[in-house]
Amino acid sequence: MSLKVSSSITTKSIFFIFAVSITLIFGFIYYPFNKTVEASVSLKPKNQEIISLGKIVYDKNCASCHGVNLEGQKDWMSRLPDGLMPAPPHNETGHTWHHSDKYLFMITKYGIEDIIGQKYPNNMPAYKDILTDKEVIAVLSYIKSTWPNKVKKIHDQINDRENKQY
Ligand code: HEC
Repeated sequence: MSLKVSSSITTKSIFFIFAVSITLIFGFIYYPFNKTVEASVSLKPKNQEIISLGKIVYDKNCASCHGVNLEGQKDWMSRLPDGLMPAPPHNETGHTWHHSDKYLFMITKYGIEDIIGQKYPNNMPAYKDILTDKEVIAVLSYIKSTWPNKVKKIHDQINDRENKQY
């Protein structure tokens, strides 16, 4: 009798340990894998196929706020009456090119609040449930492809500097 009880406890605890291990193993495999995808984000402003897809994504999802020609909203540096900021241009007159590939990807996918980690009411939608990672990379690659060579080069250096920190 006592043997039976202890053996059923053993079976239960073995099952429990097994379940925990599986969860941990999958957690450890999945978590870094997931993060690696984002750490290795790299825009492809010279790849014609990606840029063409990016333009379609841009016209459909971004142009209404950031402008058909990436010019941004009127008076984009002044707050709107509701206290929020208008959409900035994505051409070289804005500050999109001040940010690394990875940062632009994260902002577009998760939204500004998620990235800065604090409340910050703003009009920029998060695209994680709307666009695939490929589409986010494509739209940002399209944006980068429109910048003058000089700006593209500075942007490459911003990426190089950030990648060296890891
Ligand atoms: C509903 C309007 C709206 C749409 C649609 C929109 N944005 Fe924005 N976006 C904004 C606003 C407003 C900001 C600035 C928010 C702030 O700083 O308060 C912004 C900021 C950004 C920034 C940060 C720029 C910087 O220099 O810090 C990026 C990158 C960006 N948007 C990309 C996109 C992309 C890519 C799309 C389309 C997939 C898109 N946005 C669609 C309104 C929009």
